[in-house]
Amino acid sequence: MGSHISKKKTTLKPRNNYEEIFLLNKSLAEEYDYDRMHLSHNLTREIFSGNFSSPVKPILVDKNTKVLDVGCGAGYWLKEMSADFPLPNYVGVDMLPIFPKTGFPNRITFQQYNLLQGLPFENNSFDFIHIQYLAFDFSEPEWETLVFQELVRVLKPGGWLEVCDIESVPMNSGPITDLINTSMCKNYISKNVNPQIVQRYESLIRSIPSFSSSKINHEIRNLPLGIWADKIGELGSLFMKETCRLFLQGKIGQDVNIKRKNINTTLDEISNEFELYQTFFNIHRLYVQKPH
Ligand SMILES: C[S@@+](CC[C@H](N)C(=O)[O-])C[C@H]1O[C@@H](n2cnc3c(N)ncnc32)[C@H](O)[C@@H]1O
Repeated sequence: MGSHISKKKTTLKPRNNYEEIFLLNKSLAEEYDYDRMHLSHNLTREIFSGNFSSPVKPILVDKNTKVLDVGCGAGYWLKEMSADFPLPNYVGVDMLPIFPKTGFPNRITFQQYNLLQGLPFENNSFDFIHIQYLAFDFSEPEWETLVFQELVRVLKPGGWLEVCDIESVPMNSGPITDLINTSMCKNYISKNVNPQIVQRYESLIRSIPSFSSSKINHEIRNLPLGIWADKIGELGSLFMKETCRLFLQGKIGQDVNIKRKNINTTLDEISNEFELYQTFFNIHRLYVQKPH
C-alpha cells in the first residue's frame, strides 16, 4: 500500500466551473441539467461507436476488475458500463452530489470528492480509469501539475487511462456563434482555464516521466451541429443550443448584451448559422496504458 495525497475535505466551498457556468449557482436539485448531460453522453458514445476505446474488454469480464469514473456527474457512463459488463466493481467520484441515491446496481458506488484535494484511494488501485468532459473544470496549471498525476497514481501498472473532451472553439462558425464563443473563452481565460486544453492532453500525459515513451492513442472525431449531418447533427445542434441557453442566462449573456427576452430569438439565429456554415466541434478521446 503506498502513500497518497491528503483525503481531507475543505470547509471552504471549492471552485467548480461546471457549477458556476452551467448550474448558474442555483440549487442542484432544481437546476442540475440531467437532460443536457444525458444527451452529451449519448452523443459521445455514438460518435466514438462505444463507451470506451481502450482495449479493456478482456478485463471487463473479470469480477476482480475495478473501474473508476472521475467527475462522473449523474453516472450515465457508469450505468451503461455496468449494464454491458456486470462483473467489475465500479466507482464514481464527483465533487457535487449529483449521482442518484437510488436505482443503481450495488456494484456501483459513488463518493463525493474533489480530485484537486486528492482521490481517496491507495496508489495502484484501479484497472481502468475514465474521465470525460472536465476540460474546463481545472485551471491550466492544475492540468499541468495535478490532474493526470493524481489519475495515474491510483491506476494500476498495466491499467488503462481514458480521457475524452471537447475543444471549445467551433469549426465553420457563424458570427453570432463566434460572438458567444469568444465571450465564453474570455470567461474561461479569466479563471486561468485554457479553453483549448484538450489539445495539450497528449503532451501533458507524456510529460509524466513514467509515460515519456508510452504509446498514447489519440482519436479525434467531429460533433456536427445541424440537420445537414442527419440525426446526430440534429441532436448535436439541440445540445449546443441548450448549452448556449445556459451561457446566455448567465454572465456571458450580460457580456454580449443579449437580454433575457431575446434569448430564444438568438438561439434560433444560432441554429440557422449551424445549418448555413455546417458548424462542428472536435472531440478528442485519448487512451494509454500505465507502464508496468
Ligand atoms: C461537464 S460534467 C461531466 C459529467 C460526466 N463526466 C459526463 O460526461 O456526463 C463535469 C463534472 O465534473 C465534476 N467536477 C468538476 N470539478 C471536479 C473536481 N475537482 N473533482 C471531482 N469532480 C469534479 C462536476 O461536478 C461535474 O459533475
